[in-house]
Amino acid sequence: MNIGVNIGSSCFPNPVTVASGTWGHSDEHYGAQEVKCLGAIVPKTVTLFAQEGNPPRRICETPAGMINAIGIENAGIDAFIAGKLSKLKRIGVPIIISISAHNEDDFELMVNKLNAAGGLAAIELNLSCPNLQKKILVAQDAAATASVVARVKAVSKYPVIAKLSPNVTDIGIIALAAEAAGADALSMVNTFSAMAIDVKTRRSRIGNFTGGLSGPAIRPIAVRMVCETAAKVKIPIIGMGGVACADDALEFLIAGATMVAVGTYNFVNPRVPLEVLEGIKGYMKKNKMTDIRELIGSIQR
Ligand SMILES: Cc1cc2nc3c(=O)[nH]c(=O)nc-3n(C[C@H](O)[C@H](O)[C@H](O)COP(=O)(O)O)c2cc1C
Repeated sequence: MNIGVNIGSSCFPNPVTVASGTWGHSDEHYGAQEVKCLGAIVPKTVTLFAQEGNPPRRICETPAGMINAIGIENAGIDAFIAGKLSKLKRIGVPIIISISAHNEDDFELMVNKLNAAGGLAAIELNLSCPNLQKKILVAQDAAATASVVARVKAVSKYPVIAKLSPNVTDIGIIALAAEAAGADALSMVNTFSAMAIDVKTRRSRIGNFTGGLSGPAIRPIAVRMVCETAAKVKIPIIGMGGVACADDALEFLIAGATMVAVGTYNFVNPRVPLEVLEGIKGYMKKNKMTDIRELIGSIQR
């Protein structure tokens, strides 16, 4: 059974990965044999300089999901490369590094540092994180998306993945702009802009006032967006949004995603990515499929 997939020049042993910001906070997990079975790992987004993140509360539960406004708390790229990256590399699983920046010069600087660090499978551009007090996100503007992707592609020695925001009128327009600018793949989707109010205090339940909704609540919208986008672009898509079990992941693959990522459900059960992988293999066996390509985009109309 061939379940390997490619993004640009990089090969991944299987299509199951994790969504940035939801996996790998604790170094202790890196030794686990199970982590080696994943198609790739994607740690939390890194920025050029250290960021403290948003004030608490940073997360709250909602029906079939959660709202988060972490604010990309991280130690900055130099500390990340010196500390966490070397530990991640020792796992022996393809690594996709997610980066975000305030401007294109900073994106380029970070990519040069990652080029020098070596050993990555791809770079994911977080163009869609709802924080840093910006009124509009790069991923909400086709020209800005194309400009960042082109700038990064010009310097990156790794394949480049553009992570898109669902908080747009037509995600297909942004996807086509990223593809035309040279993106090797798309990651979709990031969280949906959202809020929840404590009616006793009449205050937002999130310190940042608003946050991003994730989890099973968003899955049907994410699947629809992946399905529509897959019909428009030629580059692979990493689908995500509320994957909690193998059938959820199969929806994304059938809709046209080449890889699928587990996010919020890692907090419920960190073994979900492995269960998803086993479930995909079981489905292929049952349906007498020998290559994952028979499954990808197999939606019947
Ligand atoms: C607590 C939390 C932190 C997140 N941090 C990041 C991040 O740093 N970078 C990023 O690109 N996406 C981040 N995301 C978005 C996820 O990677 C994913 O796109 C989104 O949550 C949808 O998938 P899910 O419903 O399976 O969680 C975060 C999501 C959550 C819940």
